[in-house]
Amino acid sequence: MSPPLTTVRIRRMSPEDLDRVMEIAQSLKDAPRWPRTAYLSALDPDAVPRRMALVTVGEQLTVTGFAVASLMPPQAELETIAVAPQLHRHGMAWRLFEELIAELGKAGVREVILEVRASNLPALGLYRRLGFVETGRRPRYYQAPAEDAVLMCLRLGS
Ligand SMILES: CC(C)(COP(=O)(O)OP(=O)(O)OC[C@H]1O[C@@H](n2cnc3c(N)ncnc32)[C@H](O)[C@@H]1OP(=O)(O)O)[C@@H](O)C(=O)NCCC(=O)NCCS
Repeated sequence: MSPPLTTVRIRRMSPEDLDRVMEIAQSLKDAPRWPRTAYLSALDPDAVPRRMALVTVGEQLTVTGFAVASLMPPQAELETIAVAPQLHRHGMAWRLFEELIAELGKAGVREVILEVRASNLPALGLYRRLGFVETGRRPRYYQAPAEDAVLMCLRLGS
């Protein structure tokens, strides 16, 4: 990992962040391209399931990364995590995820699950480093291109 960026702060995502969040997602080939309505519903405290959405904020208060998880305590699903390309390998996703699991733990979550394209080696590398283990595969789950989903799980507090 390159030296951590000391000025990075992590906070809850707000509607004002969405232009920048969607810009980051657009700039990354492997990030899910959610429509604005999906992010807005992720920010709705009354949505079912409830979501936890965090952003990293760098110098000049620019959003540099984000993560969204859906909560179904004692389980949560990591739905997306992405970092602006020019800031990769500075430990941003790691720090985002650390903060996310602290928040999820407070919400009663004991296990985080996710699915990821089998060819997404950066994400697989991140998840393995975070301690996720592979629990199965869904053959040809993704389209354009057709590809397997790798299912992964992380137990918290063990
Ligand atoms: C996956 C992603 C979020 C990682 O963000 P990042 O801030 O660069 O990751 P970090 O710097 O925190 O990396 C932490 C660890 O993850 C692993 N990792 C990160 N990027 C990796 C890569 N390109 N290849 C292999 N392992 C990688 C490493 O173990 C790394 O530790 P190290 O640098 O000490 O070796 C980033 O590559 C990204 O935004 N990808 C596009 C979006 C995406 O695919 N999201 C996942 C699906 S929703």
